[in-house]
Amino acid sequence: MKLKTVYVCSECTYKSPKWMGKCPGCGAWNSFVEDVIGEEPKSASLSPRRALTARTGEQHATPYKEMEMPSYIRTATGLGELDRVLGGGLVLGSVVLLAGEPGIGKSTLLMQISDILGSHRKVLYISGEESEGQLKLRAERLSVAGDNLFILTETNIERILTEIDRVKPDVVIVDSIQTVYSDNIASTPGAVTQVRETALAFINKAKTDNISVILVGHVNKEGTIAGPKVLEHMVDAVLYFEGERQQTYRIIRAIKNRYGSTNEIGVFEMTDEGLAEVENPSEMLLAGRPQNTPGNCAVCTMEGTRPLIAEIQALVSATAFPAPRRTSNGIDYNRLCLILAVLEKRLGLRFSQNDVYLNVIGGMHLDEPASDVAVGMALISSLADRAVPDDLIAIGELGLSGECRAVSGLEYRVKEATRLGFRRAVVPARSLEKRQIKAEIELIPINSIFEILKLLLPQDKKEI
Ligand code: TYD
Ligand code: MG
Repeated sequence: MKLKTVYVCSECTYKSPKWMGKCPGCGAWNSFVEDVIGEEPKSASLSPRRALTARTGEQHATPYKEMEMPSYIRTATGLGELDRVLGGGLVLGSVVLLAGEPGIGKSTLLMQISDILGSHRKVLYISGEESEGQLKLRAERLSVAGDNLFILTETNIERILTEIDRVKPDVVIVDSIQTVYSDNIASTPGAVTQVRETALAFINKAKTDNISVILVGHVNKEGTIAGPKVLEHMVDAVLYFEGERQQTYRIIRAIKNRYGSTNEIGVFEMTDEGLAEVENPSEMLLAGRPQNTPGNCAVCTMEGTRPLIAEIQALVSATAFPAPRRTSNGIDYNRLCLILAVLEKRLGLRFSQNDVYLNVIGGMHLDEPASDVAVGMALISSLADRAVPDDLIAIGELGLSGECRAVSGLEYRVKEATRLGFRRAVVPARSLEKRQIKAEIELIPINSIFEILKLLLPQDKKEI
C-alpha cells in the first residue's frame, strides 16, 4: 500500500498536501493536523460507511402522518447527576462521546457506572490506555463488585468488534477512541482518519446490535476534542467533563443530546473513593466564603432546571500600566468589558484608570447574563471599598443603557437563595411586572444600574 502524508482540517476534514494556516473549506484557523493515508482498503469487510449503505438498501419517503413516535429504551446509569445530563439514562442503540482533559476523571466515572450498570446489564469495558493490572487497581480503589463486567485491553477495531460479537454486551465503553485503530487504514492511532473510521464502526455496531456505546475522547489544550472535532457531528450525545485539576469538584455538561435537553449539568466531587454526586452544589460553592469583604457579591444562575448560587469576587486597583489589565476567571472576558464600559459611561466610574481582576469562587463558569448585576455590584464594591451585605444576593441582566433586564426562573432563584440563608435579593423590577412572585425574603426591585449605587453607598455620600 502506498502511503502519503496529507494535512487534514480537524474541523471539517478538508485535505491538503501542504499545511495551511486557514482552512479553505470552513475558514478555521490553525486546524490542520498531519495525517498519513494509504490507498482505500480493498476489502469491504470493515469500511463502516459501505456497511451502512448496504444495510439500509433502498429507501422510500414516508408520509408524515404515517410516521410513528419512537420509543427509546433508557437505562439509568445509577448516578443521578449523570442521568440528569443524559436526559434520564443511556439510550439503547445510541453513542455518547464523553470528552475531557486527561486526568479529569473520565475513566474513574466510567468504571463506577460500569459497576452499577453491571447489576442489571452486561458491560464491556475496553481500555487501550491501561493494563489489566492498572484497571484492577483502580476498580479495587472504587470498590467495584464487577458483576457482569468484562474488561478488554485491546486497541485493534477488528478484534474489538469480534469480541463484542462474542460477549454480546448491552453497554460498551471505549476508553479512549484515540487509541483504537484499524489495520485497513494507514495512519497512526489518534489521527483524524483513524478516529473517524473507528468511531463510525462503533456507531454502526451500536445501531445494528442495539447496544449503548460510550466513547471517551481526550481534549487538547484549546478545548477541542483532539484532532477529530468531526466526532461531535457523528455521535448522538456529546458530554464534556470539566473542572479545575486543583479543585475537587467536576462538572458534566451536555453540549449535544439527541435524546434530551442540553441545559442540565451534573456536579461531582472527586474523593479518595472515586466521584461522589453533589446534590447541593450551591452549598459547596459557598463554603468558606469571605464575610464582609469589599468586592464580593453572591449570584444565582440557572443551570437547566437547577438554580446554582456562586460568589463573584472582584479586585479593582490603580493601574501602573498605560493600558489597564483586565483578567476574568469564570465570566466571559468580553462580558466583563461590556459591564465595565456600561459602569464607566452610565455611572461615570473610573475603571479605565484601574486594573480589574474578576473571579468566580470555586472555578465555576457562569455563562448566563443574569449574573451581570452581581458582577457590576462586585466591581463597584471593590472600587468604592464598601462591602456588599453578606445576606444580599443580586440577580439581573444589564443592557447597554444600564437598564436591568428581566431574567427567567426568578422564583426558583429566590427560593434557592432563601434556602441558603440569604435575607435580601436584588431583582429586576421588570421580572416582577410580568409576574408577582411569593418570596419569604426581602426583594429589592431595580430598574437600572443607577439604583445599585444607592444601595451600596450611604445616604449622605453621592459619589465614590
Ligand atoms: P482518571 O479517571 O484516570 O482520569 P482520565 O481518565 O480523565 O484521564 O483519574 C483522574 C484523577 O483522579 C487521577 O489523577 C487520580 C484521581 N483519583 C482520585 O482522586 N480518586 C479516585 O478514587 C480515583 C480512582 C482517581
Ligand atoms: Mg483515562
